Amino acid sequence: MAKLLEGKVAVITGAGRGIGREEAIAFALHGAKVVVNDPGVSYSGEGKETKVADEVVEEIRKLGGEAVANYDFVDDFEGARRIIQTAIDKFGKIDILVNNAGILRDKMIFNMTEEDWDKVISVHLKGTFNCTHHACVWWRNQAKAGKPVSGRIINTTSDAGLLGNIGQSNYGAAKAGIAAFTIIVAEEMAKYGVTVNAIAPVARTRLTTDATPQLAAIFESVANAPFDVLNPKSIAPLVVYLASDKSAGITGQVFRIVGNMIWLMGGWRSVSKRKKDKKEYWNPEELDSVVRAMISEAPPKESMMEIMQDVLKEAQS
Ligand SMILES: NC(=O)c1ccc[n+]([C@@H]2O[C@H](COP(=O)([O-])OP(=O)(O)OC[C@H]3O[C@@H](n4cnc5c(N)ncnc54)[C@H](O)[C@@H]3O)[C@@H](O)[C@H]2O)c1
Repeated sequence: MAKLLEGKVAVITGAGRGIGREEAIAFALHGAKVVVNDPGVSYSGEGKETKVADEVVEEIRKLGGEAVANYDFVDDFEGARRIIQTAIDKFGKIDILVNNAGILRDKMIFNMTEEDWDKVISVHLKGTFNCTHHACVWWRNQAKAGKPVSGRIINTTSDAGLLGNIGQSNYGAAKAGIAAFTIIVAEEMAKYGVTVNAIAPVARTRLTTDATPQLAAIFESVANAPFDVLNPKSIAPLVVYLASDKSAGITGQVFRIVGNMIWLMGGWRSVSKRKKDKKEYWNPEELDSVVRAMISEAPPKESMMEIMQDVLKEAQS
């Protein structure tokens, strides 16, 4: 197997379980030294269990790789500084940051508490900002000191943010924010040799199996198919590629990945336009027909359910 990350140092947040764990193992097998960050919290972000990160470090060491654990919370600005500093202190540098940590607190908008909102926005959106900020300070300083930089950031967004999903206004808003953040930071860091991309994965982890009984049933129904399209291992290859030097020049992109399928996602863009014949502003009365005509000619929206049907079809084929 060609090793794509030989000599690289990577930080992966939330790497103790699920998708992050598989990314950490794949990175180590590709030759990277890995900081396995995970405070080992519950599905909704409570508690702390250091063995969650320790076990992944142990597994990587058994496979002959190098890894170190860090138990800080990404949503704590100083904690995030320590996460990045762990890579520099233990391995001398940072080349790759994978912002993967996440929790869920799904509620309908009328039932959502301020804390449910704040906590989810904080772990996903602020957590992504925190780690990205500290890594980018380091890369910019390296570049200014005339040292070569080939930095890579891979953020984790979700269809809930890109397409919308009922019960996830907090999570979807954070994930949509992460997609926008990816595009902007990609532009800001281009001149310092850092690329920034995002993935929107779908995989069987506690975030999907513990969410709703309906979703859990769909996810379990494909678990024993000959090809397990929802195995969290399926996400890591794209992240290894985006983290490697092979992906040079690819930046500001968002990819959905599920099993053996990858989609390039396109963001907000204008899909239809009207202009008045006269040089005058619109009046509200005439806007009803204008707005409805624009909506009717716009391409149909993609829905989360369509994606899941695509995934099930693949699993059953
Ligand atoms: N599983 C899916 O289908 C799916 C779909 C879309 C997006 N995602 C995203 O993928 C990422 C990984 O999710 P997963 O499904 O593997 O879930 P998971 O629960 O299996 O793993 C997430 C890990 O993040 C850690 N974590 C939580 N809060 C943290 C914090 N404040 N600081 C550091 N670590 C923290 C948890 O302890 C946990 O081990 C998340 O960002 C999630 O939103 C997952």
